[in-house]
Amino acid sequence: MTKLKSLAELIKMKEMLLQQKKGYSKHLHVCGGTGCQAAHSKTLDMNLKEIIDDKGLNNSVRVVTTGCFGFCEKGPIVKVLPDNTFYTEVKPADAREIIEDHILKGNKVERLFYTDPATNEKVSNSEEMGFYKKQLRIALRNCGAINPEDIHDYIENDGYQALGKVMLVYGAVETIDIIKKSGLRGRGGGGFPTGLKWEITSKVEADQKYVVCNADEGDPGAFMDRAILEGDPHSVIEAMAICGYTIGATKGLVYIRAEYPLAITRLKKAINQARETGLLGTDIMGSGFDFDIELRFGAGAFVCGEETALIHSMEGLRGEPTFKPPFPSVSGYLGKPTNVNNVETFANIPVIINKGADWFASIGTEKSKGTKVFALAGKINNVGLIEVPMGTTLREIIYEIGGGIKDGKKFKAIQTGGPSGGCLTEKHLDTPIDYDNLTAAGSMMGSGGMIVLDEDDCMVSVAKFYLDFIVEESCGKCAPCRVGNKRLYETLERITQGKGTPEDLERLKNLSNVIKETSLCGLGQTSPNPVLSTMENFWDEYVEHVYEKKCRSGQCKALLNYHIEEELCVGCTACKRSCPVNAITGDKKQLHVINQDICIKCGACEEKCAFDAITIRIEKKIPA
Ligand SMILES: Cc1cc2nc3c(=O)[nH]c(=O)nc-3n(C[C@H](O)[C@H](O)[C@H](O)COP(=O)(O)O)c2cc1C
Ligand code: SF4
Ligand code: SF4
Repeated sequence: MTKLKSLAELIKMKEMLLQQKKGYSKHLHVCGGTGCQAAHSKTLDMNLKEIIDDKGLNNSVRVVTTGCFGFCEKGPIVKVLPDNTFYTEVKPADAREIIEDHILKGNKVERLFYTDPATNEKVSNSEEMGFYKKQLRIALRNCGAINPEDIHDYIENDGYQALGKVMLVYGAVETIDIIKKSGLRGRGGGGFPTGLKWEITSKVEADQKYVVCNADEGDPGAFMDRAILEGDPHSVIEAMAICGYTIGATKGLVYIRAEYPLAITRLKKAINQARETGLLGTDIMGSGFDFDIELRFGAGAFVCGEETALIHSMEGLRGEPTFKPPFPSVSGYLGKPTNVNNVETFANIPVIINKGADWFASIGTEKSKGTKVFALAGKINNVGLIEVPMGTTLREIIYEIGGGIKDGKKFKAIQTGGPSGGCLTEKHLDTPIDYDNLTAAGSMMGSGGMIVLDEDDCMVSVAKFYLDFIVEESCGKCAPCRVGNKRLYETLERITQGKGTPEDLERLKNLSNVIKETSLCGLGQTSPNPVLSTMENFWDEYVEHVYEKKCRSGQCKALLNYHIEEELCVGCTACKRSCPVNAITGDKKQLHVINQDICIKCGACEEKCAFDAITIRIEKKIPA
């Protein structure tokens, strides 16, 4: 690979690459993200290349294996450029039709178009799809647009120019000023102003400083950072180098969870290519600045995403947080000043330098600028990865981008902010999303997990689910989090089993507040949020569980009644034979009856009954 020695050489390379691409009349972008690969996009990619080769189209048609397009629900995705045709749910066997009909004859393959569920109409262009209309892809700008395994694709899209400008034009102070003016805040959850963090680290005197990229991404269901690293690793590498130059660090470390094999492979490849091209290493672009990056692997502990625990883990110590201050900016990795930023935060940096602080600051709300990437999951039609301007409402996300609630069910709540976030309701749907509004509503931005819940979800069980996660993931260093969360979990468990008392409700609130106030790190300080927010917004469900021993959504099995309907029971004895505790009595061809005192609500009888005679009653049957 050509080693670039100046910014001018980089720009010349970009122009040369653009010139080379002019020969191609069609570009087929095939999603090569983890989700689509699981649905055989690799074979699809291979088939397309083979058919193109067979037909002698290699000089005019190009297949680009890209990162995630975000619309994971409808993957594998193939996008054809320049006509912007967006094919969904493409199978390896569809490759021939795409090449022979669309590429050679100009007849688009309509059956692979997305069908809009609202209108039942076929949509061929992603820009006209509800899922994309309200999105603005800044951090995800290159995901789905370039080959993450080829540095030339990144360079062709202005890659590494921001680094060149920072080192050779702006200098450290002006760069920090640009980031401060842009209003960028950390996307890892805390929302700390990025420019200010860089400034603090830059001002600390030390013989060695470090730049750390936090790619731990421990929130259940979250895959924003994974998608960026799989789809656009160079933007993170470039941003880390920019940060290093600005704060005076020559070493960068990416802490990435070992369960992200594709992201790790692509990141390693990208680092090697950047070294070979002279964009990492010594005297980058003739600036005299040296910078290189190493990887460190996390073992999947949620707490290791907390920056002090992460640093300990990188040092080979137990992944436990320590009290702040000192902040990593002052004393971090190996006791040296360390700037820790999230993957998505870094992905925004090069484009801010290239397009300017004012451009970025013009997007979003007063105190939260730019966009945010969310992993949209749960009972929603369009599950996937989305990026929206700050200030977009939850209603727009759920109903326009997300396509509404699955199976026409009624919306109940949206859980934002990961395991320590909160559940928001109907009344919050028109709240513009930003750091402050979400916190004021009793939840938080977190790193970007969004789980939609419908009428079938029990909110007490939802709180219990998150507490279960927290109990598993607490590092155990401080008692409020270690013991307190366990007690919260046990109390919720009692309530869902119909054994809750009015005192339990009081205990949940008091203990939650104690845990929040006295825990050592962010994990414990936010862990009671699911309990407090569901108690605040769904108090009547807690009351029903405790006072009426009733779960309105039928999720809490202990509060249900299995009942045999007299008019449907034919006395076949199937239920009686399936019951593990002999709770069912009745002779052949006679009505069978369940003894509620013996029944353990296992559901085996309901499964076995071929006459649908066994029903579940939510109302507890009060004995006469
Ligand atoms: C329990 C816990 C888990 C965290 N997990 C992550 C994570 O997976 N990724 C991340 O970037 N930040 C995570 N954070 C936040 C980091 O401590 C830190 O604030 C962040 O990496 C700073 O980067 P930013 O300013 O770019 O957001 C976590 C915090 C806590 C308390
Ligand atoms: S709050 Fe929880 S995770 Fe944080 S230090 Fe204490 S025990 Fe560990
Ligand atoms: S739910 Fe299970 S325990 Fe209860 S009657 Fe049916 S089979 Fe027996």
